[in-house]
Amino acid sequence: MSTCTDNWEQVEAAAKLVLGEPIAAMIEHCRHEDHSESQLIAVLHRVQSQFGHLAEAHLDAVAQLMQVPAAKVAGVASFYHFFRLKPRGKFQISVCLGTACYVKGADRVAQKVIDELGITWGETSSDGIFTLEAARCLGTCGLAPVVMVEEEIHGNVTPDQVPALLEKYLKKAKG
Ligand code: FES
Repeated sequence: MSTCTDNWEQVEAAAKLVLGEPIAAMIEHCRHEDHSESQLIAVLHRVQSQFGHLAEAHLDAVAQLMQVPAAKVAGVASFYHFFRLKPRGKFQISVCLGTACYVKGADRVAQKVIDELGITWGETSSDGIFTLEAARCLGTCGLAPVVMVEEEIHGNVTPDQVPALLEKYLKKAKG
């Protein structure tokens, strides 16, 4: 999609189809305000909460409707770590690498998770079940080392426990 076109109505209709009417309406409202980066960030948050991630088609549609260059939208989406450009797995697994966890062996736990899943930070397993993230501190340092799967905290995790932990969620996913 290009922002330069004679057929604005067609472009607008296609972009609305990608994003849906509520988001299109939000963008319409934003367009009457200042085109600041914060407006763009708010729109991208809304798109991500609706679709789970920001696909290229979403970014293009946002650029079209906000009438800002596609490169700017892509730049903002990739600059901020809270935007996800790839689909997320069914379960997000966060391994805490904060100080308390690190000194209790979080690096070995992390390595075991990486080995078991065959993915690295920010990636999603090929079966679409796990997305792996590193966390700074999950606020439960007394249980270090900590792994969180979705909202469930697992404390005092050892590398040997990792396969069973993953298996539990694998079963849940298939279950
Ligand atoms: S450092 Fe891991 S929970 Fe605080």
